[in-house]
Amino acid sequence: MTIDLAALPHDFLWGTATSAYQIEGAVAEGGRSPSIWDTFSHTPGKIAGDDHGDVACDHYHRWREDIELMRRLGTNAYRLSIAWPRVVPDGNGPANPKGLAFYDELVDGLLAAGITPSVTLYHWDLPQTLQDRGGWPERATAEHFAAYASVVAERLGDRVTHWATLNEPLCSAWIGHLEGTMAPGLTDLTAAVRASYHLLLGHGLAARAIRASAAGAEVGIVTNLSTVHAASDRPEDLAAARRMDGHTNRWWLDPVHGRGFPADMRELYGVELPEQPGDLETIAAPLDWLGLNYYFPATVTDDPTGPAPYARAIRRPDVARTGMDWEIDASGIETLLLRLTEEYGARKLYVTENGSAYEDVVRPDGTVDDPERQDYLVRHLAACASAARKGAPLAGYFAWSLLDNFEWAYGYDKRFGLVHVDYGTQARTIKGSGRRYAQIVRAHRSRVRDAA
Ligand code: IFM
Repeated sequence: MTIDLAALPHDFLWGTATSAYQIEGAVAEGGRSPSIWDTFSHTPGKIAGDDHGDVACDHYHRWREDIELMRRLGTNAYRLSIAWPRVVPDGNGPANPKGLAFYDELVDGLLAAGITPSVTLYHWDLPQTLQDRGGWPERATAEHFAAYASVVAERLGDRVTHWATLNEPLCSAWIGHLEGTMAPGLTDLTAAVRASYHLLLGHGLAARAIRASAAGAEVGIVTNLSTVHAASDRPEDLAAARRMDGHTNRWWLDPVHGRGFPADMRELYGVELPEQPGDLETIAAPLDWLGLNYYFPATVTDDPTGPAPYARAIRRPDVARTGMDWEIDASGIETLLLRLTEEYGARKLYVTENGSAYEDVVRPDGTVDDPERQDYLVRHLAACASAARKGAPLAGYFAWSLLDNFEWAYGYDKRFGLVHVDYGTQARTIKGSGRRYAQIVRAHRSRVRDAA
């Protein structure tokens, strides 16, 4: 399979992505306070193998080594997240100089290696102290988020231009407050809808705060979207697919594009939104870019007795799947990039995450070959390039993930890295997929040089 590299812009960002709680470890160092994920992961039975992020990839101490890995991959961008409880341990209130110093050095290290930092302010690690005061269902959390955003932007905004407010608010709201399998582990529709509202309000307030503190900042939001298909032509399944599209995609995309919260979904949830005058305008603050995290498509059937949105994903037989049991469909990433372009008028798009977990085997010679992950990577990059060829303003791709890491409720069993991590020794080994990615990056770069 070939990737139409000529369709990608010359200044394309070739990146890898991680998040703070999944890799940093050092949870009790440098003045960091506990987050909701510390609490959740230390609650027996919540995480496979009762794993937690106490040490993770020990990136807090090994970040120099990890930048060296990025350099060896030849990538020119890195998407990281800042741990709110490291920077503002009380959730609101004074900043922690040691927390800020950590990210300060990391950003300097990246820039010295020629790697553009893309900073995400919230990748799910809410300070536990704010959860104790009600968490995202409360409006104050959105306001505290903006204050924290301002602290970080003031400190890093002279060097960081690429900012994301939230990562995958869907997971924070729906999985954390409705399905309950992510922190804070609630199963309450009212709390979930209120959380979704305040997350998006927090996004808008933080976007404004970043722009006020960091001249030249390019601000976006990272959404995880899926293509949604009906399991059959039955009118009930077609309606279920429409509801799932509302729940997964439109509930997040419409408000940030100035269309408000979709009326059909408001009616379906039946929860009054905690709206105040001016909120919708704040939420719809113009985006400099939009991030797409894409992993799998969904095929759904009507499920009148299930939880909202009364649509259930079915498991299609005889289709290829990753080690997460997620269906593989590279055409979905192209469809979504084009939908964002045509239906939402996106001006600049990044694939902020895309990747696959497989059971990697370390061979006796110490190498890790992962043909299935390489295949997934190449297929999805080819689909991205095809979207770009058809007009999607795609400016970069961030592979999930740089490193194997703490995969939330799945613990350390599921490995998404381009780099293998031995959690006993913390040894890092670039996998075959990492080498393949490096080749693709080099091929694009030499094409750009030839064209100059
Ligand atoms: O590991 C996660 C990441 O934190 C958010 N997006 C999906 C990834 C794979 O599940």
